[in-house]
Amino acid sequence: MVKAGIIVELCHPVPVAAHLANRPMLAMIMAIGNSNLWFSQSVPNLRKLTMLKAAVFSLNGDQGPHIATLTDAGFELTFKSKESDLWNEDHLISEMEGVSAVIAGSEPYTRRVIENCPDLRIIARSGVGFDAVDLEACNDKGILVTTTPGVNHHSVAEHTISLLMGIARDFPKQDQHVREGNWLRRAFPRVMGTTLGIVGLGRIGQAVATRACGLGMNVVAYDPFANKEFANEWQIELIPLDDLYTRSDYVSLHSPSTPETQHMINKESLKKMKSGAVVINTARGSLIKEDDLIESLRSGHLRGAGLDVYEVEPLPTSSPLLELDNVLLSGHTAGLDIESHNGMFGMCGEIIVALHNGEWPAAECLQNLPGVTDWKW
Ligand SMILES: NC(=O)c1ccc[n+]([C@@H]2O[C@H](COP(=O)([O-])OP(=O)(O)OC[C@H]3O[C@@H](n4cnc5c(N)ncnc54)[C@H](O)[C@@H]3O)[C@@H](O)[C@H]2O)c1
Repeated sequence: MVKAGIIVELCHPVPVAAHLANRPMLAMIMAIGNSNLWFSQSVPNLRKLTMLKAAVFSLNGDQGPHIATLTDAGFELTFKSKESDLWNEDHLISEMEGVSAVIAGSEPYTRRVIENCPDLRIIARSGVGFDAVDLEACNDKGILVTTTPGVNHHSVAEHTISLLMGIARDFPKQDQHVREGNWLRRAFPRVMGTTLGIVGLGRIGQAVATRACGLGMNVVAYDPFANKEFANEWQIELIPLDDLYTRSDYVSLHSPSTPETQHMINKESLKKMKSGAVVINTARGSLIKEDDLIESLRSGHLRGAGLDVYEVEPLPTSSPLLELDNVLLSGHTAGLDIESHNGMFGMCGEIIVALHNGEWPAAECLQNLPGVTDWKW
């Protein structure tokens, strides 16, 4: 059985079938089964004959449309082994041996990892956050980093609204009380008519905004690059960040993790918020200084918080957040509905195969190597 699936030429990648049809001798050599022979002497133009390996590390990546897309294109797929911890650099490096494309989750691709993965050409992030990838290190090595924008915003928006409504109706305590036989009945403030402050009015922020409008909330937003047409259409007031903190009953974070947004929710910004305000974070844990948030939740200044992302993930079982009954927690699952799963993985598979065929993906999917026109697999 022929083990190799793709022949990599120096400049022009060509599927193995095309070569085999014209080169019976080559087919015979391949049938011997050695997938890492060098043919530069016997077959001019061909440098390396190898099966291309694509690793799928993103959560639940053993299912989805990418499996057929990649295997049909001749890729051998590898998945994380049970014993390895992808947050450990050495484990990740070892899992990446021989891998040229990876469908990545939020495991960290540090400079050391990048420099120790000599075959790597593409990091296709299933999702939109790519803060776990050292882009400069990728630029230095000519490794492309892509994301899958426009696929999971509805999922994150539904999750955000669930956390918001859950805190609004005091579900963490209510659920616990009923389980304990504690039949406490008391009134809560209505959500309709309250103000939601959205930080980051991008794809997810907008999807949250339209849903919040449907709930009868007043929506205000802060975004240095806001889409004004959208804001006008939905009557969303664009306001400075400090005003958003002081005016909002609910503050929901939807901006990326950047040096500018790092710890934007801290002692000072929390102090500006109304007493009884609620913070929702389905963006990135780095946006919130968790110790300050915890202090504010403990003091009762904040009524509650709904969190999907944390400074350290997975959230350590020693986290004081776990002791609070005014928080609703989920484990970085906001973007994970089935439709998003299929959309994200399908897009990753297509991007990898397209790049291998010499086709450049849509600009919005590319996150590094700006202006590069001579990238080769
Ligand atoms: N919890 C999850 O499972 C999950 C899933 C998907 C995305 N996310 C997070 O959600 C974030 C938003 O995703 P998106 O698809 O809406 O991205 P997006 O790029 O469409 O929108 C981000 C918006 O933030 C704005 N922004 C940039 N800097 C800002 C700042 N300093 N203050 C306020 N706004 C700022 C941008 O102008 C943009 O409009 C992602 O960066 C990602 O970290 C989380």
